[in-house]
Amino acid sequence: MLIDAAHLAEARRRIAAASDILVLTGAGISAESGVPTFRDALTGLWARFDPEELATEDAYRRQPGLVWDWYEHRRTLVAAAQPNPAHHAIVALAAQKKVTLVTQNVDGLHQRAGSTDVIELHGNLFANKWLDGCGRCEAAPDDGRSPPRCIHCGALMRPGVVWFGEDLPRVARYRAEHAAQTCDLCLVVGTSGMVYPAAGLPGVAKDHDAGVIVVNPQPSALDATADLVLRAPAGQCLPMLWPPCAAAPA
Ligand code: OAD
Repeated sequence: MLIDAAHLAEARRRIAAASDILVLTGAGISAESGVPTFRDALTGLWARFDPEELATEDAYRRQPGLVWDWYEHRRTLVAAAQPNPAHHAIVALAAQKKVTLVTQNVDGLHQRAGSTDVIELHGNLFANKWLDGCGRCEAAPDDGRSPPRCIHCGALMRPGVVWFGEDLPRVARYRAEHAAQTCDLCLVVGTSGMVYPAAGLPGVAKDHDAGVIVVNPQPSALDATADLVLRAPAGQCLPMLWPPCAAAPA
């Protein structure tokens, strides 16, 4: 995809001039790693699966085996995926200036690329927790049951992601909002901007006089908030926006 040269130059200038950048990422940043997004028309997960059947606590209580196995499938897919140049570019940016990385993604690819202190608004696919646990829950040794249960109280283990209708982790939400209020540039990468409160962060940044740049090959709900939209895939675009990491010393 050909990126508009004038837009690219303007984005480079704004990023170079910024000193405190909030990077907000969504599923699109992992698309080039082969991880499906949610809302892309043909390839998105929600085009093929019903979130009401898979991503709510209600659904889990009704069909724990089905939901658990779906998350197991996603864990396997993500474990086989690799961070792409967009994930790596953010590591390079954070080596050059203050960056707060806030993600809606649960895939852990930012961390695997080397980003530290990633603010995960929607939890993590690999961090399970207990549903209605007894407080001293312990998983049974793997007996092939799906999902695992507590040996003391029989509680179900559940994926450590935020489902529809659930609150975001409080500290992550607080930190993300604080970053939106204090940054001087908000770089939004690969999100449809449809899911709140995450989708509200660029607006908060703008209200506090920060610039907003969107990177997305398709139109998104955040285009109207942006000062600049780069219509391009993240893996192609981000490495062009700032210098790469300094080479590691020999
Ligand atoms: P969506 O699937 O809603 O949006 C993905 C966005 O990525 C779309 O706007 C695409 O155009 C864009 N995109 C696709 N390929 C891209 C690429 N190579 N580079 C850059 N952008 C690309 O995903 P999210 O906005 O992350 O919630 O969805 C938000 C939340 O809704 C998710 O965190 C998830 C979902 O339900 C939970 O799991 C709680």
